[in-house]
Amino acid sequence: MVDSVVWDIGYLVSAALFIFGIKRLSSPKTAPQGNRLGAYGMLLAVLVTLAKMYSEGIIGVELIIGGLVLGSLIGYIMATTVEMTEMPELVALFNGFGGGASALVGLSEVLKRLQEGDIPEPGVELYATWVAIGLSGIVGWVTLTGSLMAMGKLRGGFYIPFTKKDERGRRRWVSFPTWGPPWLNIVKGSILVGCISLIVLTVQEPDNYDYVYALVGLSCLLGVLFVIPIGGADMPVVVSLLNSMSGIAAAFTGFVIGNNVLIIAGSMVGAAGLILTFIMCKAMNRTLTAVLFKSFGGGGRESVTRTKVGSDPEEVAMVCDGISKCVIIPGYGMAVSQAQHAVKEFADILESQVVDVSYGIHPVAGRMPGHMNVLLAEASVPYEQLIEMDDINSELPETDVALIIGANDTINPVARTGEGPLGGMPIIDADKARVVVIIKRSLSVGYAGVDNDLFYEDKTMMLFGDGKKMMNELNASIKEL
Ligand code: TAP
Repeated sequence: MVDSVVWDIGYLVSAALFIFGIKRLSSPKTAPQGNRLGAYGMLLAVLVTLAKMYSEGIIGVELIIGGLVLGSLIGYIMATTVEMTEMPELVALFNGFGGGASALVGLSEVLKRLQEGDIPEPGVELYATWVAIGLSGIVGWVTLTGSLMAMGKLRGGFYIPFTKKDERGRRRWVSFPTWGPPWLNIVKGSILVGCISLIVLTVQEPDNYDYVYALVGLSCLLGVLFVIPIGGADMPVVVSLLNSMSGIAAAFTGFVIGNNVLIIAGSMVGAAGLILTFIMCKAMNRTLTAVLFKSFGGGGRESVTRTKVGSDPEEVAMVCDGISKCVIIPGYGMAVSQAQHAVKEFADILESQVVDVSYGIHPVAGRMPGHMNVLLAEASVPYEQLIEMDDINSELPETDVALIIGANDTINPVARTGEGPLGGMPIIDADKARVVVIIKRSLSVGYAGVDNDLFYEDKTMMLFGDGKKMMNELNASIKEL
């Protein structure tokens, strides 16, 4: 039997790698290295845990190799086949897996103890262990089912299998529901009280299996009801909150099984996710309680009845000729069309004509935190050119052309009225620029489902078409001038 000091040293090194990794994530320049350090830390933690379990005779070598091969294979396939546009859903799914894994570990621990009759005498140990198991269960199961709901909402809906395909080869599509009558808060509150009561009951009657299974069922239901009323522009807050919860569940599970590295890593994810949640709330001008209990994020999709004649790349190229300042405002459509390299080329051409080019980045543009930053970094856009919302808004009144590629909610002036799903959300003031060019395929609404007055303003030129295709045509037209 290997001395437990060896395992503790392994865990200490892996915890140190997490801490140095997260520190390096604070700057875009050092972030890739931070990511690698975190991954090495996790690899070490997994290897140490498996070696410890093997040395203590808990699992055999077949299970270890089988688990490693299967897990690595699934992770490799998911990471290499995922489309860039599906990354937010994958992140939501990973949050859910994190919560589910913690909940399963907690559940197996309680079932093992019940089977072996390893129940502490009434006292502090019993209370601490059973409360930690109960809390890891509640947070873990809520995170699992809540994240699956969030994943569905980020996709927008799902295809019904076996239905007839349309001319583009797609089956019938059903939108994911956003539903939140005011009485639902009472139901959610009652279920939460029910879950906490079940923890109290398990402490009083620790060998009762029914309480354990009831806690699993109620927590899963709570996760679904927690996310179902939230939609539209409030989804970023929920995604980061679920990310935080997956960490908190891991930390509780660390207490349950006495694993220090799980407590450290879980607390770090929980704290970082919570900070991100509050950053998102600030960006949306919402309080967390308003997002969770008012359910004003989903107002259905407005139908678009107005029309607007589109421009063409040659006309936009002429407008861009001789300007001195251009602000590029990217949104989700840039991610869908993978237009980031063409956008960078556009910026390079303008810069070669001594135009001052910068990028206005809304904190919730796209479908995941930092979505635009990641895409533009991939296209080698210098980080210094990415300007945050407040700063770019002070530059927009002096801007000749605001080029909006695939953004909609984040530049929708209706948010200023304080009404509807976008009400109160700060936006990038693209409408303050002298000329506005918007590249998107149609006049259709964005994620929050709200029509956009900016499309119909006289100074707005709509370039209808796929983002990448239109950017390439625009670049070709500018070069021809
Ligand atoms: P959105 O408001 O979602 O609008 C994206 C626009 O892109 C759509 O109106 C669409 O119009 C256009 N588009 C789609 N595919 C395109 C393509 N191939 N080429 C060109 N355009 C295309 O985007 P946004 O301004 O980035 O706002 C983000 C929204 O998502 C916010 O409401 C935010 O709250 C929400 N959200 C954000 C997150 C995070 S963490 N960032 C998470 C969940 C939800 P067409 O169909 O006409 O082309």
